[in-house]
Amino acid sequence: MTSTQSQTGLVGILGGTGLTELPGLAITATKEVTTVWGAPSAPLVFGVLDGVAVVFLARHGNPHCIPPHQVNYRANIQALKDAGVITLVGVNAVGGIHKAMGPAQVVIPDQLIDYTWGRAGTFFEGELDAVTHIDFSFPYAEAARQVLLEAAGQEQIAAVDFGVYAATQGPRLETAAEIARLERDGCHLVGMTGMPEAALAAEAGLNYACLALVVNWAAGKTDCIITMAEIEAALAEGMADVTAILKASIAGLSRLKAAH
Ligand code: HPA
Repeated sequence: MTSTQSQTGLVGILGGTGLTELPGLAITATKEVTTVWGAPSAPLVFGVLDGVAVVFLARHGNPHCIPPHQVNYRANIQALKDAGVITLVGVNAVGGIHKAMGPAQVVIPDQLIDYTWGRAGTFFEGELDAVTHIDFSFPYAEAARQVLLEAAGQEQIAAVDFGVYAATQGPRLETAAEIARLERDGCHLVGMTGMPEAALAAEAGLNYACLALVVNWAAGKTDCIITMAEIEAALAEGMADVTAILKASIAGLSRLKAAH
């Protein structure tokens, strides 16, 4: 194996709500795998997207039935790492807090705040040789973010190029007061699956970026309550943009070097 082959390569896609299967993926193999942390949410789906090798994993299972607080994030990241993934895109449905982040808007966040609790959030536990504290100053891989943003531009999709992602516990949506607090904290979008996924990806040395699709205004941002019908309508409207960005970015993502 040449040094180039060992440093760049397989792209993983973790599909969230509305992306249980990846349109356009020419499937070559589906593998049931397990890891030292247990089984991932679904079998790994290997295939080719626009001529590039990809492995796809449905974060909530296929069919979609694992709620955000019960996803085995460690098994998902470990399974993708074991499969040889170097660069990973997490697709997340989110609520919009910032005025530029209304329903069906694509956002590539650059920061996060973790409000989740009780989730297994590290690989560094049990019998350890040393205590490890990874740097997590910048939770998303900038090079991967830029590839996604360039792909969006190429597809003439006006993706928002910033955003602080608030990761909440769920599965219930937030109160209006909780969203007001998140806004005071500096959060721009809110979802339930961004953590500990991003931290585990960093611990695993993956280039990780989040491709978020806003599916509702967050609680209290309009006079209306949040309905599943509204969420489904935004998913139907925005998912074509998400899949177009994935397709247009896949070659660039596959050329990124391993983080470590
Ligand atoms: N809050 C948290 N998670 C979400 C939301 C929301 O409003 N919409 C989609 N996922």
